[in-house]
Formats: sequence, C-alpha cells, structure tokens
Amino acid sequence: MSDQTNQRGNWNTKLGFVLAAAGSAVGLGNIWGFPTQVADNGGASFILIYVACCLIVGLPVMVAEFAIGRNTRRNPVGAFRKLGKGWFPPLIGLWGVLCGIMILSFYMVIAGWTFSFIFEQLFAQLGFMSASEWVTRMDSGPKNAFFAILFILATISIIVGGVSNGIERATKTMMPILIAVLVIMAAYVMTLEGSTKGLRMYLLPDFSLINTRLVFSAMGQAFFSLSIGMGALLTYGSYLRKNQNIVESATYVTLADMGIAFLAGLLVIPAMFVAENAGITIIGDDGRLYSSSTLVFDVLPGLFSSMGGLLAIVLGTAFFLLLSMAALTSTISLLEVPVSYVIDEHRVPRKKAAWLVGGLVMVLAVGVSFRTNMISFLYVIFNNVGLPLGGLMLSIFLAWSWKTRNALDELRHGFKNPEKSLFLRFWPAFVTYLSPALIALVLITTLYNLLGG
Ligand code: PFF
Repeated sequence: MSDQTNQRGNWNTKLGFVLAAAGSAVGLGNIWGFPTQVADNGGASFILIYVACCLIVGLPVMVAEFAIGRNTRRNPVGAFRKLGKGWFPPLIGLWGVLCGIMILSFYMVIAGWTFSFIFEQLFAQLGFMSASEWVTRMDSGPKNAFFAILFILATISIIVGGVSNGIERATKTMMPILIAVLVIMAAYVMTLEGSTKGLRMYLLPDFSLINTRLVFSAMGQAFFSLSIGMGALLTYGSYLRKNQNIVESATYVTLADMGIAFLAGLLVIPAMFVAENAGITIIGDDGRLYSSSTLVFDVLPGLFSSMGGLLAIVLGTAFFLLLSMAALTSTISLLEVPVSYVIDEHRVPRKKAAWLVGGLVMVLAVGVSFRTNMISFLYVIFNNVGLPLGGLMLSIFLAWSWKTRNALDELRHGFKNPEKSLFLRFWPAFVTYLSPALIALVLITTLYNLLGG
C-alpha cells in the first residue's frame, strides 16, 4: 500500500491541502459568478440563501467526497468501483470525469478572456490602441482560442509537476497573492464616490425578493463554487494523509470559499455604483443591474479606463490578474480529475496523461472559442444539472451502499475527540436524508423549467 501511496503522491503539509482545495473552490465562480448572481437576484437576500445552501448541503457533501477519496486512494471511477458492487457505481465516477472535461471546455475560454484583459489597460494607456482593442475582443474565435490554449498549457504545466511539487506548490503561492489583491482592491473601491450605494444594496436584504428561482440559483452556485459533485475534491482527498482532520479541513475550505466570494462582492458591487457615478450605464433595458459578462468585461474596464494613467493600469491589471489566478487554481483541479482517472485506470504515466487529456480539452475549447453562444448551454447542462446530479448520486451511494458507519470510521482518523463532535453526530442524517432531498428538489425543478414546464 505504501508503494502505491507514494506513486500517487501526497500533500506535503496540512495547510498545503487546505489551500489546494480552497484554490479549487475559489475561482471564476466566486469572483465573477457570485457578484453577478447577487446583482441578478436582488442583493443581500441571495447571500443569506447562498450561505444556507453551502452549510446545509455543500459542507456535508464535501466531507463525503474527502472521506471517499482518502479511504480508497483512487480516482473517482476507481473509488466508486472499490467501495460499491456491480456496474453502476463506477458510472458515478465516470459522470464526474465527463463533467470535468466539459466544464473545462468553456471554463478555459472564460479564463482566457480574463487573461487577455490583463493587458487591456496597459496597452491603452501606453497608446497601443489596436492591441488594446484586440485583447478585449470576445467575439473573435482565433483570439479566444489563442488565450484559451495559453491557459490550458499553463494548467498542464502545473499538473505535470504532480501533487506536491506541481499542484500544492502553485496553489500555495497563488492563494495568498489572490487574497491580498482582493482585500486591497475592495478597500480602495470603498473610498470612491458612489460605493456606499452599492454597499447598501449588497448588505441590506430585501426579503420580498426571495423566491424559488433565487433558491435554485443559490444551490447551483453553491455546487459550482465549492467544486463539489464531480469528484474534484474526492480526487484531492485521495492524496490526503490519515492524520489530517477531514471535517476541520472541509470547514476551512467552505469558509474560505464563502469568505472570498463575499469579499469579491464587496469589490464588484460597489465598483458598479462607482462606475455609475462616473457616467457608465449599469442598469439594463429590463431595469435590472447589468450582470454576467457585461459586468466584468464592460462595466469594470470602463471604470478603470475612466481613472486614466497609472491608476488605470494598476487597477485594470490587478483585477484581471486576480481573476486569472483564481481561474488557474480551479482549472488545475478540474483537469486533475480526468488525468488521475487515466493514470490510475489506464496505467498511463502522469506526464503523458496530462498531455492527452489536456489535448482533448484544447480541441473542445477551440470549438467553444468560435461558438461562444454555447457557453451558457454547456453551463446549464454540466453545472446546473451535472454537478447536483453527481452530488445526489454520491450522497445516495455513500448512505445506502458504502454506509455512513464506514464513512464515520474514515472521518475519525485525524479527529481528536470524535465522540464529542456535534458535526459527526448530525452529519449522517444530513448526507442520508436532508442533502439528497434538497438536491433532488432543486434538480427536479431545474429540469422541469429547462424542459419548458
Ligand atoms: N469552484 C470553481 C469556481 O468557483 O470557479 C469551479 C469548479 C472547479 C467547479 C472545480 C467544479 C470543480 F470540480
């Protein structure tokens, strides 16, 4: 076993694992998705429901993924095969591998946008107008493909380095920089005129805005943002040592993810109102706040430009650098799922596996680069439906096939006084009944809406 353990790799330090898992969780979903969803769903009331989804459904499922991963020390397909019986369990893992590849196909294009926008203000303020205009073209297939490929190459180069030398080292470097840039930028935006109006909208809940649509958006966002439902955290858990406390680590990861999303909102929502103050339109024809790509790729760059000179370069570059780094720590974990599957199940060396899967993702991402209207379709199928479906199958499998008592045995490793833990006492009921019931409800309604009900 120890031979196999060494070959698969391990996290070097406890903090390294938490940062890597938090790096997976903190991504475009936090810095772009969360503020966008808050803007789209009427502000602070969304935040409350989102926090509830993360704690009631997200955290228990995350603990389940880590437990299955560490217990089996396998990729998702191998893990479900090892713990279950028959042909169905490995399909749960295979679904995760498919979701990973398909989410990467569009995530890489958006990550490529954030990467290209790093250069916009720099080129503009230096007077290279056509270069500045080129990097912001989101409808140009060749430009999109170029930056998506660059991003895929960066991801492959880290994955090739392995668990501790590649993934752990990269995320340990990037996460503190990311948090520092975010805090400094949010603090700066707070000092600008107009920001208090945004702050009010962000922090004061209007309970009349809570409806089913809001709850479903919050649940989808929680799955995507916490990276659960497709075995990414199961895979990260498979590199965990027995002396690490899974419950504690999962709690840190969930809190870090929620905290950074909240911070990103503190930057982006007030920044929109600062932009409005500077004469930029932030309310669409439908009377709602701009959201989605308009917010991040139109309103904010407009705000940076209006500041002019060095400040525009510093803020514009820092913001998109922040988004790119957050995206990179997530693409690493998305790619690691299919790569670990190819390594474990098909006995392919890591380097070759990374290039093989990375090459496939490249082909798909180039396709999406030329047809960006596919992004929302892919997002709905593989995120809104795919991840909750994966989370549902995982919880049902754990509770009814592997059994929570075996999972609890796994969770007790590294836990100092497990018998005193309130979390461990309630967790079985959460993964067995509450989480699957809530996920199923959201899934059925999402599907009903999708099919035009
Ligand atoms: N959590 C990432 C984000 O918020 O952008 C996206 C993600 C990463 C989803 C890894 C799923 C996953 F397995």
